Amino acid sequence: MRLETLTREITALHAEALPAGVVTCGAALTSAGVAVVKLGPPGAPPFAILKVTATVEGKRLLQREMAALTALHGDERLDGWRDLLPRPRGHGVLAGHSYRLDSALHGRPMTAPTRAARHAVMSAAAETIAVLHRQTAGTVAGGPEVAERWVDAPLRELSCRARRSRWVAYRIERLRDELHDAVGAGTLAAARIHGDYWLGNLLFSGTQSPTGIVDWEASAPLEPPFHDVLHLLLYTRRLVTGAELGQMLHDQLRGIGWSAEERAVMNRHWEWPPDGTLSERHMLLLYWLRHAAGHARQQGSPAGYRYRWWERRNVLPVLESL
Ligand SMILES: Nc1ncnc2c1ncn2[C@@H]1O[C@H](COP(=O)(O)OP(=O)(O)O)[C@@H](O)[C@H]1O
Ligand SMILES: [Mg+2]
Repeated sequence: MRLETLTREITALHAEALPAGVVTCGAALTSAGVAVVKLGPPGAPPFAILKVTATVEGKRLLQREMAALTALHGDERLDGWRDLLPRPRGHGVLAGHSYRLDSALHGRPMTAPTRAARHAVMSAAAETIAVLHRQTAGTVAGGPEVAERWVDAPLRELSCRARRSRWVAYRIERLRDELHDAVGAGTLAAARIHGDYWLGNLLFSGTQSPTGIVDWEASAPLEPPFHDVLHLLLYTRRLVTGAELGQMLHDQLRGIGWSAEERAVMNRHWEWPPDGTLSERHMLLLYWLRHAAGHARQQGSPAGYRYRWWERRNVLPVLESL
């Protein structure tokens, strides 16, 4: 069924949740096959967002995001902060397509911040996500359970698609051993995280403080809170320089270090560094691993040409710098 027809039928099914005269005012398709459709009165900002998918991976992502939004909206500790999040207004399955209707938040992503605005925007973004981390803060005991979640499971996503080579297998094994040692004992800080916290998933309208946070499919509880801060910093750097994540990790691991501006943003986040147990190297590696594994999984398997291209830029440079 065509997207227009589907959209029309879904909006008719959920007419009570939408104002009269709603039309499609924009649509985009994500890499996992989820269409994001903006709905609203002609010429006005969108009133609702429709996410619709027919792929297996797209359905998994939609379900994960729904579970995260339900948990977040049900968490009283987050209080008024939850106004920053989309509110699901309806969901279902139509003609083999899964869909969800969300309230639309005000603002637009700031994917090309000016040099003058960059620092203030990143600082405000770090402060905003620190609220989530602080309100959901907990700890996990170092040991096999956390090693499975933070190291082994994501490494499996990379190794099952990895280029067949003794060098790659050896480096993955080395990384596994190093990270097992890092999370094998002690007490580790953990919290609910967004999981894909970059300026493209934040909405701004006029001011430098975010007015919305979207795209919650990578969110999970009891994850390392530094993940969101490192992703924000490195993906802002990527917006400015165009560098790939693998190259940036390579540079950081080789000691090129953070700029004064980036350090200042980290300091705006709650209690940075958030955890005395892990070194910055291990925080960087755990962050990169979770992010890269999520991307790899969305590409499906077997790995094709596009995956090899991405792996060369985002996985191999990190393995090389271990
Ligand atoms: N609830 C929402 N309110 C306003 N805009 C939204 C909302 N959800 C998504 N968007 C817009 O659609 C874009 C894509 O949605 P997103 O959830 O980030 O999916 P993906 O990045 O996986 O394509 C966002 O960057 C944002 O501009
Ligand atoms: Mg997004």
